[in-house]
Amino acid sequence: MVISVMNLKGGVGKSSISYNVAKYFSLKMVTNDKYSALNNIKQMISGTQISVNDGSLYDFGGFDDKRINTIIEKSDVIIVPTLYSRADLQNTVISVKKITDINKNAKVVVVINRVRSGDTKILDETKEILFKYIKHGVEYCTIRDSKAMLQSINSNRSVFDIHKESGLNRHIYSGIVNDFYNLVTIIENYIDN
Ligand SMILES: Nc1ncnc2c1ncn2[C@@H]1O[C@H](COP(=O)(O)OP(=O)(O)OP(=O)(O)O)[C@@H](O)[C@H]1O
Ligand SMILES: [Mg+2]
Repeated sequence: MVISVMNLKGGVGKSSISYNVAKYFSLKMVTNDKYSALNNIKQMISGTQISVNDGSLYDFGGFDDKRINTIIEKSDVIIVPTLYSRADLQNTVISVKKITDINKNAKVVVVINRVRSGDTKILDETKEILFKYIKHGVEYCTIRDSKAMLQSINSNRSVFDIHKESGLNRHIYSGIVNDFYNLVTIIENYIDN
């Protein structure tokens, strides 16, 4: 399995989502971002082409890099995280267009990230914009705003690990874990079809 996580916009949750998805599927993480916040991630050496290896998840930095094209082409699934702002949504539409220009059969999942309870109206507006401007068939899911995301990166534990740790955690983090189950289910269905 090869998964890419891509958005030309920075700070949308690519690395946080990458880490958790990679842990769930036991994939090796690779990045082209020399400022990556993640530990245990293999760096693509700048300027050199990289090979696409099965069993890898590629977490791309929020900038354009021609070398990602071959990886996008060979990815089974491409995750595109986004936030709500106009700039984020614009870049998300452009990113999906770039992906589907490279791979017209690309299996893309757009993850609307950092959703808070009470965001119903802005979430509806966001979906409306994405449905309108993304012409390629893509799957959508949401991930809520949760302190488990930062905790996960800082402590090298996935949200699934944190959730399992105690009865209290099972209670507090049931929502975020559920969001990740929805995402990994979309990925599994894409792989099966
Ligand atoms: N669902 C979430 N809930 C709360 N905080 C989040 C969530 N997703 C991401 N964050 C926070 O947002 C910030 C940016 O996340 P992250 O580094 O994963 O984004 P990125 O897209 O990889 O950024 P870059 O483009 O710089 O690589 C981090 O502080 C992270 O903890
Ligand atoms: Mg990142």
